[in-house]
Amino acid sequence: MWLMTLTVGLVTLVLVTWLRDYVKRWRMPPGPFFWPIIGNLFSFGGQFFLTFIDLAKTYGDVFSLKLGMTDVVVLNSLDAVKEALVKKGVDFAGRPKTLSGDIFTEGGKDIALTDYSPTWKLHRKLFHSAIRGYASGENLQSKVHESLEDVIAEFSKMEGRAVDLEDYIYKLVYNVICSAAFGVRYNMDDEEFKTLMKVSKDAAEVFGQGTLADVYPSLRYLPLPTITAVKKMTREFFGIFQRHVEQHKETFDPSNLRDITDHMIKAQKDAEEEGIHDVTALTDTHLRQTIGDIFGGGTDTTIMTLRWAILFLAAHPEVQEKVAAELDGAVGRDRLPELSDREATPYTEATIHEVMRMGSIAPLSLPHATTVDTTLRGYQIPKGTWIMPNLWALHHDPATWGDPDVFRPERFLDENGKPIPKPAALMPFSAGRRACPGEAVAKADTFLLLGGLVHNFRFRIPEGEGPPDLTPDVKGGGAGSQPSPYKVVMTCRKK
Ligand code: HEM
Repeated sequence: MWLMTLTVGLVTLVLVTWLRDYVKRWRMPPGPFFWPIIGNLFSFGGQFFLTFIDLAKTYGDVFSLKLGMTDVVVLNSLDAVKEALVKKGVDFAGRPKTLSGDIFTEGGKDIALTDYSPTWKLHRKLFHSAIRGYASGENLQSKVHESLEDVIAEFSKMEGRAVDLEDYIYKLVYNVICSAAFGVRYNMDDEEFKTLMKVSKDAAEVFGQGTLADVYPSLRYLPLPTITAVKKMTREFFGIFQRHVEQHKETFDPSNLRDITDHMIKAQKDAEEEGIHDVTALTDTHLRQTIGDIFGGGTDTTIMTLRWAILFLAAHPEVQEKVAAELDGAVGRDRLPELSDREATPYTEATIHEVMRMGSIAPLSLPHATTVDTTLRGYQIPKGTWIMPNLWALHHDPATWGDPDVFRPERFLDENGKPIPKPAALMPFSAGRRACPGEAVAKADTFLLLGGLVHNFRFRIPEGEGPPDLTPDVKGGGAGSQPSPYKVVMTCRKK
């Protein structure tokens, strides 16, 4: 009898909750049917950003979903993204609170995954000043050149062979960001390099797929394998950054700040000694988390962009030739491209824009969350709703681009080859309060790295292979867009 009562009670609770959610949905943006408890969790396979474009055709460019019990609103057009992230910036500047995020950020002590708060603001400000000091201008350029010279020597030995460059690109990018962050450069067989690369790849997969406990927080008490994996990754990843913080503290000299870690230690000391910052917001955990943000934000993104760029250029030799010829004209053959060459190389810049548009390496940006009860297009959006800006949709909208699936850098130039104002729909770094704080570094870094590679090598698809696969790898359910593994043949361009 009690079992029957329990079952009836549970079924009633589920139905009442479901009905309540449907009533709530009346005032929210429209969306597809959702099931009790699971919502739309298992309704879409493959790449969510593509599925969302289809759903927008039925429900409009702002629509709702339910992931488990969590409300999600998808923004599928430039107008919607601008209205939410820019016009109502603060309302939409939060981040979803998830179990995996909470573990990985050691209780929300980072920048990228933590909610909108005074501590987040402080760390974003420190991030900007650290980047300005150690990863911009001449400073960035000399780090890139050092890293490039190393990899160019390695590439030269592989001339004529079909090779997968992925690990070398990891090394190329890590050595720029890690030397700015904590003054370290790696060899390929370095254990720390291998661990960072492995944890980054694992993290992309786990965070891309998400874990059930993120949408059903009560599952946190079960020994879910993904949660165990996130805990292990957190220990490995931040163990490395903590070691660097400790080593820096041992040799810290306030009159000779060497890198971003020293810059952060100085901010910590200022807080302790002079009360310039809030001490409780500058613990060692915050320091290693900010270093993790610079590493995590600055490496995978640039690596994916470079992997897309080399693939697009190999698939479009005519574009590659134009970039190489432009660099030859602006740079000559005796040195590597420099930041001062950017103005004289509009075709190269346009090619980088086109790679970022077509590759859209962060197709759904990072998820946002509403910080208050708010409205969008007259619909109500309750506090805590997850917001997914579909940047892929903006970058592939035929109404904006005409031929969005064609790789055509010329779309960013006028008939005289001069740059036209950048279309607002090109938004690889997102927009508003949470827009990528690394945008300037990323653009400079990509120009120097890609420019340096194309200046030195021709990349082509191996003979006998058909046209390369230019669709994003589906691993990770669509959180990141990266090319499937591919090989290219390199030829040295003559001096
Ligand atoms: C091609 C390269 C890059 C792309 C396409 C990119 C894209 C993005 C996007 C889409 C976001 C989410 C913005 C949002 O939530 O609305 C983001 C956030 C972020 N990026 Fe980047 N990024 C790149 C490079 C970098 C670099 C080089 C760094 C660091 C040096 C960096 C650090 C960060 C950080 C810390 C955040 C979190 C910001 C916050 O939550 O307030 N990114 N990035």
